[in-house]
Formats: sequence, C-alpha cells, structure tokens
Amino acid sequence: MNDEVLEKYIKAGKIAAEVREQSAKLAKVGMPLLELAEKVEAMVRSAGAEPAFPVNLSLNEFAAHYTPQHNDETKISGDDVLKIDVGAHIDGYIADTAITVDFGQHDGLLKAAKDALAAAVDLVKPGAAIGDISKAIEDAIRNSGFVPVENLTGHGLDRYVEHKEPSIPNIALRNDYRLSDGQVIAIEPFATNGVGHVKDTPEVMIFSFSADKPVRSMDAKRIASYVARYNGLPFAERWLLSEEARQSGVPDSLFRVRMALRELVQRGVLYSYPVLREAKAGMVSQAEHTIIVRDEPIIITK
Ligand code: CO
Repeated sequence: MNDEVLEKYIKAGKIAAEVREQSAKLAKVGMPLLELAEKVEAMVRSAGAEPAFPVNLSLNEFAAHYTPQHNDETKISGDDVLKIDVGAHIDGYIADTAITVDFGQHDGLLKAAKDALAAAVDLVKPGAAIGDISKAIEDAIRNSGFVPVENLTGHGLDRYVEHKEPSIPNIALRNDYRLSDGQVIAIEPFATNGVGHVKDTPEVMIFSFSADKPVRSMDAKRIASYVARYNGLPFAERWLLSEEARQSGVPDSLFRVRMALRELVQRGVLYSYPVLREAKAGMVSQAEHTIIVRDEPIIITK
C-alpha cells in the first residue's frame, strides 16, 4: 500500500470513528431512526468523506441491513438495543465501524461483542490464521454467557469493494487462510441471547450494483444509470427519493422506484441486502473496527 492510499484509509477511519461516537451520543429514546440516519450520513459528508454504505441502524433482534426508508416512522424506545454501523470512504478507500447503544439494561450483551472485538484485534498481524481469530471471537462471546451469530462475518475490504475475501466468521471453524501484510479487514463480532443465527426478512432497504444487463422499463434504466455514481458500493432506497435523485431523472414516486428496483433485482442488475433478523428474535449486539494488517497493525477506526 502506498502512502497516498494509506493516508486516505486513515482519514476515512478517523471520520468514521468520529461519526460513530457522535451518533451514539445523538441517539436518544424518542428519536426517529430516519432523523438519526440523515444526521449520521450528513456528518460523514461534512467531514469530507462519502458514506461507504447507508448507515445501518438495526434495533434489537434485527442484526444488520436496516436503514430507514424515506417515510420510516420508527422511533427509539426505552429498552432498545441499537446497532449503528457506519461506513465512510475517501476516493473508494473504506472504513467500516460499528457500535451498539443500549437504552435498557443490556450491558452484558454489549460487553460480549466489545470483548470479542478486542480479543480478535489483538491477534491481527501478517500470518495470523483466520481460524484463530474466529475462535477468539467465539470464546469471548461464550465466556460472557452469550452466543455468537454464526452466519455473520467480518470481511476484507478493497477500493470501492465493501466485502471481499477473507470472510472472518464469528465462530471457530477450521480455517487456515492467513492474513497478509497490507490487507484491509473489518472484524465485526455479533453476540446474541438468541440461537445465534440470522435469517433474511422480506424487507429490503439496501442495494448495490451487480452487473450491467438489459432492462425493460425506462424507470429501471434511469435508476441503473443514477446509481453508477456509487461505484458498486451499497445505496439506500431512501437515497433514490432525494431531491438530487429526482433532478437526475429518478422517478418522483415511491411506487415507481420500488417497481423499478424490483425489476433491477430480478434482472440481476442490482444485488439486494434483506434486513437480517435473529432466528429466535434474540437481542443482538455488534462491535466493529477496520484494520490495516501490518507488523504494527493500524486500527483506522479506533
Ligand atoms: Co463490515
């Protein structure tokens, strides 16, 4: 990694970390998730980065991929557990970080994810085996009396690529893949008091561009061309209902946007990220950092 790229990662990391901490302070009982999401993403932009993906604000048994719709009326309530997963990028170099905020009495659940992240980060260096990192995550969560979510993983990152190899599972699986110098990875333990498995729900709020393929409707064509600006990074349905999108020819109607998104997913132009829910509706906590693998690893989102 050259110095220019390193600098961009460090700047993206600093912004993502600051926004994460500010967002956690801003979140209050009674606050609409939509208001929080808009503030979080505005903070990323005003700090000089772009959101690497729509901020994920997943409550309670929803583990990930919930970002408010443009007309979302959900408010934070007492006893909620809110995961704030923020991504910021500079010129495509992504920092991905998450924190869990507790509005009830879930200290243990939050600590389980945080301890697991700390244990995992401690092991990061060139040559470290993914299997050992995963085991450290599982052990830390189980030792806290909770269950790791088996089908959510940390991941490698690259320029304009939010998920690439290696996958870093939250459970101890045999895995001899070894980290190498200069790799960028996100480690994100998820802990739950449920069964430790998440399932897709029918709700989809986040999409990304997958492949250029022919589509029939003009609305779908317009949306496909509008989202090219995200360079393959995930975007929200909500982002398509902005004034800027409307002025760029995206239909000014929720119904038409939804129909076009459905067509684009069916045609394989877009990839969809369904909201993920814990299988037994357990409460879920998450903690996440992005790290540059080196002899002296750099936790860019610290
Ligand atoms: Co991530």
